[in-house]
Amino acid sequence: MPTAANHTERFAAKVLDWYASNARNLPWRAAGTSPWGVLVSEVMAQQTPVTRVAPQWVAWMNRWPTPAALASASAADVIAQWDRLGYPRRALRLHECAQVLCQRFHGEVPRDLTALRSLPGIGDYTAAAVMAFAFGERALVLDINVRRVHARVFVGIANHPPHITTGERSAFDAVLPKDERAPQWSQAVMELGALVCRPVPACEKCPVAKSCAWHLAGQPAAQTRARRPQSYVGTDRQARGRVMALLRDAGGNAVDIATIEGAWHDREQLQRALQSLLADGLAEMRRDGQVSLPVSASITR
Ligand code: ADE
Repeated sequence: MPTAANHTERFAAKVLDWYASNARNLPWRAAGTSPWGVLVSEVMAQQTPVTRVAPQWVAWMNRWPTPAALASASAADVIAQWDRLGYPRRALRLHECAQVLCQRFHGEVPRDLTALRSLPGIGDYTAAAVMAFAFGERALVLDINVRRVHARVFVGIANHPPHITTGERSAFDAVLPKDERAPQWSQAVMELGALVCRPVPACEKCPVAKSCAWHLAGQPAAQTRARRPQSYVGTDRQARGRVMALLRDAGGNAVDIATIEGAWHDREQLQRALQSLLADGLAEMRRDGQVSLPVSASITR
């Protein structure tokens, strides 16, 4: 009978081996990426697929290679550069994060989980990812892909419930290597979840299928329903995206309301979208009623 420790160790060896020949060539994985580069990549990847993030990350880092460089950019430039990554409030948060790093951390990304967690736009996942991938520390990097692999291989269920419990954290802690392999292990498990152990899994390609508790149990169905992917077409979010695209294309110039109204078929929905963009600080209305990307130099929320 293999012991739990044996299983954990064999899993680590197999998954690290698999990663060595299957890792995608993402630009922030290159040697020499700064902690700031890692932090930017993780914020961009929070809600956007990494393949879409990659070219945007390269352009962003060329333009603003340090927190100080980003902190001194205008909010309008930051939003315009964010382009079509989606959920553009993240761009404002990242801008604000750069400013806080300059004000409180000498322009450096701190090597400290609590300090990272205190930064704008940085939650538990992103703080742990920066600790692991930027600083090589042992941290619990629990994203949706890592959680799915853990649930299947070690617990034997299709998925963990949506909210992370302390029980899940300690079960995860028990299988995360105690030694210097921990960060690479997390990256490898994340990659396995992204490429193989997907919601509909490709077990035939999986290096650990033979010892996966869920696979061995006949892949029992999930207890909790998977969240449906949000549809986009016709939503307020799409209307917001349309307005943001107009403002970005205007290159910092103001756009009149008639042009904005012409960009969306539903007038009421457009008004809602515009009001929410103004409230979020992603757009500004001028005295003459025209709308532009925010012109104020600094963000105060
Ligand atoms: N998704 C979020 N962070 C990632 C990373 N570092 N590598 C691959 N996918 C990711």
